[in-house]
Amino acid sequence: MKPVKVGIAGLGTVGSGTVNVLQRNAQEIARRIGRPIEIAHIGARRPNPACNIEGIRVSADVFELARDPELDILVELIGGTTTARELVLAAIDNGKHIVTANKALIAEHGNAIFRAAHERGVDVAFEASVAGGIPILKALGEGLAANQIKWVAGIINGTGNFILTEMRDKGRDFASVLKEAQALGYAEADPTFDVEGIDAAHKLTILASIAFGIPLQFSKVYTEGISQITAEDIKAADYFGYCVKHLGIAKDTGNGVELRVHPTLIPKEVLLASVNGVMNAVMVDGDAVGPTLFYGAGAGSEPTASAVVADVIELGRALTIDHDERVPYLGFHAEAMSEVPV
Ligand code: HSE
Repeated sequence: MKPVKVGIAGLGTVGSGTVNVLQRNAQEIARRIGRPIEIAHIGARRPNPACNIEGIRVSADVFELARDPELDILVELIGGTTTARELVLAAIDNGKHIVTANKALIAEHGNAIFRAAHERGVDVAFEASVAGGIPILKALGEGLAANQIKWVAGIINGTGNFILTEMRDKGRDFASVLKEAQALGYAEADPTFDVEGIDAAHKLTILASIAFGIPLQFSKVYTEGISQITAEDIKAADYFGYCVKHLGIAKDTGNGVELRVHPTLIPKEVLLASVNGVMNAVMVDGDAVGPTLFYGAGAGSEPTASAVVADVIELGRALTIDHDERVPYLGFHAEAMSEVPV
């Protein structure tokens, strides 16, 4: 049976994890789709010893993937917004479906990308862009679709949570924990995105768009990071029975959606206070379901790859059933969004 042909642009932490998960779980994935996945083309300047790409076509120029007539799906894992945007738009133009883990790309350029995808009749899937391995976008877009969402609040940056946890539990200093987070592949290429709240603001933009059906409005997020938090702040909070957590909060005020990212004092007995290290947790309060909590690894190679590959599987399934019946996984096309003041 003809395989679903996938191209992977970027072979860093998430790219290598994606190759490994696709290879290791190839049989289960083929069973779930109804036909196998073939990694047909990789875009990377150099190999990554963390994965085996023997026998796979490799191009140093990622735009070769957008031009490759063989590919059904392009997986964008190069990060950043300039080349990534051009690559994704070029691939869409050539009729390819897109999977991306790139929250900056979706938060800042998603409205234009979804419009282009809608016009070309292809899908853009981006589960891995928020909260690593937690399938929170699918939960919001599908599992909780019956609800009016009241608010979404969560720890959505693994690096920041890792830093705050290590500072509190081991008395370590900010800079050395950040270095470790970088070595573990948790941090962004520019770690100021993690510690100044920009990464969390990107993710909150995406969460809010799906939760409330509003356009992506990154510039509207109040954004404050954790770089000014000191060991003394954490100790004082602890003394009074609180944890310092970096939260992203999106709330329907009845007059628009409030979007904010900032350090928050949380009473120790509240569930979110127990979310430690690189783990993320997102709470969603819906009018029908009530409060719900989603928990899991928010960064790292294979947790993030788990979400990337889930999107590949979903698109692979859609390509395998009658094309006319194909539905976008999140129904996240531009015309589905309404203008709600933020
Ligand atoms: N730098 C991000 C984080 C990676 O630490 O959460 C996952 O999005």
